Amino acid sequence: MTPSPFQLERYFAVHEFTARYLLCSSDPESMSITDLLAFEPGSMEGLGRLRLGYTEYPGAPELRQEIATLYKSIDMENLIVHTGAQEAIFSFVHSMLKPGDHMIVHMPGYQSHYSIAEAAGVSVSPWLARESEDWALDPDELETLVRAETKALLICAPHNPTGYLPERERFDAIVEFARRHGLWLFSDEVYRGLEHDPAARLPAACDVYEKAISLGALSKSHGLAGLRVGWVAARDRNVIAAMSTFKDYLTICNSAPSEYLASVALRHTGALIERNTSIVRNNLAILDTFFARHREILEWRRPSAGTVAFPRLKRGDAERFCAEVLEHTGVLLLPSTLLEYGNEHFRIGFGRRNMPEVLQIFDNYLREHGSK
Ligand SMILES: Cc1ncc(COP(=O)(O)O)c(C=O)c1O
Repeated sequence: MTPSPFQLERYFAVHEFTARYLLCSSDPESMSITDLLAFEPGSMEGLGRLRLGYTEYPGAPELRQEIATLYKSIDMENLIVHTGAQEAIFSFVHSMLKPGDHMIVHMPGYQSHYSIAEAAGVSVSPWLARESEDWALDPDELETLVRAETKALLICAPHNPTGYLPERERFDAIVEFARRHGLWLFSDEVYRGLEHDPAARLPAACDVYEKAISLGALSKSHGLAGLRVGWVAARDRNVIAAMSTFKDYLTICNSAPSEYLASVALRHTGALIERNTSIVRNNLAILDTFFARHREILEWRRPSAGTVAFPRLKRGDAERFCAEVLEHTGVLLLPSTLLEYGNEHFRIGFGRRNMPEVLQIFDNYLREHGSK
């Protein structure tokens, strides 16, 4: 069965390249190839010399060696690189789950976390974040969701769209639940590294649990979404073998120039992430003031990690609100209807350098129309 349309992507297909101002993007500030290669003398010449043949199916060894340095218990044989995190999610579901299986999924969330599984005949139970507790997950609830057919638990931390990051104790309780029931723990960690307080960073799930699959990418923390480089890291080599076999029917191997650029980026992970977290921290301080000013109509739950948050509109409906803001100002927000979470919230993105200017346009609009 074909998965139901990816609503967020269909919305971006219409607006991302036509809206004057983006204020809901989850990918932070990107950079040019020249700026990226400036981190490493000689790399521009290296790119010019690169041969454009097929590359090794799990990802170039040089690239996998760099990715492995992000983990404690992973070497290059425990990794498979994909065309973005998105391809890896698709491949995991089709390689490791079968019709009739059941999966518990952290929600509200990224639609491919559940729509791909549903289309593959896997039943999905939402594990709902608790808004009143700053979007916290309650590990005790998991025992009420698990069934005999449950094969996997999917979490996303740091979370899109709420910016929630569990504390270590809660994360350990989630891992313990997965271990107790022998479940795959598919852990979407594409925003890992963008914790607003670096001390809050969680270990990668694959480093603490033998049946965890950690999903990583260069799209978010490194700000290089156009490279289309994502991967899974898993201690269980059967996962890597099954996903490799499936990848033969997807992209076969990755783009050679992207693999080269990705290797350079990974050698400068610290600098790239620092660049993005400093943009995020600066923007968050501005958002705090903005939401305090508009507290009569907007409810702000400050995120703890990543580039997005999910404020609530205290009156009116989010879809209409976002459409009106776009029409009057050219500022693009993302209504919660597209994330299948009622009609009261919208996603706001704060990873871009121009956020203060775009927010000012939104602010002016609210000052004029906010009380209506
Ligand atoms: C939580 C989450 N997972 C996966 C992806 C897909 O990432 P990529 O662009 O690397 O395919 C996104 C993109 O927005 C995301 O937010």
